[in-house]
Amino acid sequence: MTQNLADTSRPAAPAAESDADSSAANGAAGRGWWRDAVIYQVYPRSFADSNGDGMGDLPGVRSRLPYLRDLGVDAVWLSPFYASPQADAGYDVADYRAVDPMFGTLLDADGLIRDAHELGLRIIVDLVPNHSSDQHEWFQRALREGPGSPLRDRYHFKPGKGADGELPPNDWESIFGGPAWTRTVDPDGTPGDWYLHLFAPEQPDFNWENPAVADEFRSILRFWLDMGVDGFRIDVAHGMVKAPGLPDLGAHDQLKLLGNDVMPFFDQDGVHAIYRAWRRILEEYPGQRIGVAEAWTPTVQRTANYVRPDELHQAFNFQYLGTSWDAAELREVIDLSLDSMRPVDAPTTWVLSNHDVTRHATRFANEPGLGTQIRTPGDRELGLRRARAASLLMLALPGSAYVYQGEELGLPDVTDLPDEVRQDPSFFRAEGQDGFRDGCRVPIPWSGTEAPYGFGPTAGGPSWLPQPDSWAGLSVEVQTGDPTSTLELYRSALTIRRSHPDLGAGESVEWLETGEHLLSFRRGSFVCTVNTGSEPVRIAAPGRILLSSTEAVAVEGETVLPADSTIWWAV
Ligand code: GLC
Ligand code: CA
Repeated sequence: MTQNLADTSRPAAPAAESDADSSAANGAAGRGWWRDAVIYQVYPRSFADSNGDGMGDLPGVRSRLPYLRDLGVDAVWLSPFYASPQADAGYDVADYRAVDPMFGTLLDADGLIRDAHELGLRIIVDLVPNHSSDQHEWFQRALREGPGSPLRDRYHFKPGKGADGELPPNDWESIFGGPAWTRTVDPDGTPGDWYLHLFAPEQPDFNWENPAVADEFRSILRFWLDMGVDGFRIDVAHGMVKAPGLPDLGAHDQLKLLGNDVMPFFDQDGVHAIYRAWRRILEEYPGQRIGVAEAWTPTVQRTANYVRPDELHQAFNFQYLGTSWDAAELREVIDLSLDSMRPVDAPTTWVLSNHDVTRHATRFANEPGLGTQIRTPGDRELGLRRARAASLLMLALPGSAYVYQGEELGLPDVTDLPDEVRQDPSFFRAEGQDGFRDGCRVPIPWSGTEAPYGFGPTAGGPSWLPQPDSWAGLSVEVQTGDPTSTLELYRSALTIRRSHPDLGAGESVEWLETGEHLLSFRRGSFVCTVNTGSEPVRIAAPGRILLSSTEAVAVEGETVLPADSTIWWAV
């Protein structure tokens, strides 16, 4: 099943790398490219479809790399494109060294990495080590060979409880709803052991106590490093190690406890040994290869454990993503984030959207406190105004920032997808009550007046999720060159961020005193002011306006900060 390439032993070497490395002497950014990188998340299913089958693919991504270079990002993180039955949109991997035919071939991946490097873009791939697909060869053999198969120890196969083993081995619940265990049928047709899956039943969890699992993933890391990738985004990085004996949790509705309590299957201290081993592998390779943790932990302080100097390089800041559009709350989470990362000398990261949550233009269009899975469009105009302001705030903060494809177009979530077209397993497993992740996964509008708006090669052609008619007006083509568009706002912001000596990497901000609903901070000769309130506020201009998320008006030597706006200043 594994595809092979003749030439797989080439080190990563973005064209811009020597420049980046020679600027190493100039300040914090030089200590590592990732310390101030803007990393753009491509969701391959929905970015660009080269062959018109309605599904995005690697040649499609490759053809759009110049767009990403021009946007001004430093690196591209690709969600999984590996061989997969797509039970969870590719986060169920059947072969970690093969590209799914739906996305292309290993040669396409190779071409994509090469082209990206020539454009000065780095490539980060997704690694899914907590679980495989149930179609993975190991799992299939474990099932076929029955009890006693040594392959069963690479997953968590356990006898059930009850007189006939008819009850699951413990009370753990799947993140996608329902029990985290599924009972198997033995080769002779009788009911057998159960296996653990923290996500869908098609995603059995690996047993990381088994050395074959650890060996295999070290080999997979090397495979992609040899292909030239610049790093890995590690899926469910907090999940691989389970508490000894797999103890009951003793509570229901466990999903609600996530993020607050320590769970016996998440954020166990044992995971850190895995990352120490991986860090050593990353450092064997030239060109500063990195690891990024998708770690859900109860506190930012615990997230910092994943980025200690001998572990991974970055971790997503989900506490920031979950913060409402409120000056006081934002200030608190910004301070907490910076304070937590400083002791481990890791860059703070900032993120507002990804493929698992309602886009921030829609979150901020709704009343606060609804969480990150929202099915109501809210006040679209308000949401977009706040999203633009929030993006400028994020890009002004010290550290590295993640941009999810389409947020630079100000895309909202598609909240009215008919249930028949939805594909997110969490939507079905939780009986339609939760899991609205398809709404942020709708393909990108590039150009033209008819769906799929340049996502695929032919007007009127398919897209795996339907795009709303209104997206004709949000395409890259429409927004390009329009100074009021969100796309041009991002382009300007990224240009300024790249050239401004006081933006990008850093460990702290200097807060300036302001009124209610206002945030204002200084970084050297740069000031960022944010008004999260619904009324315009007059302030004494701290300097010259560099960029503004909405039109700011000067009145009698003062500047009016419009409601829900951010302004960047040169001081
Ligand atoms: C991560 C991914 C998500 C996936 C889950 C299981 O949270 O971001 O999309 O469903 O892991 O792999
Ligand atoms: Ca395609």
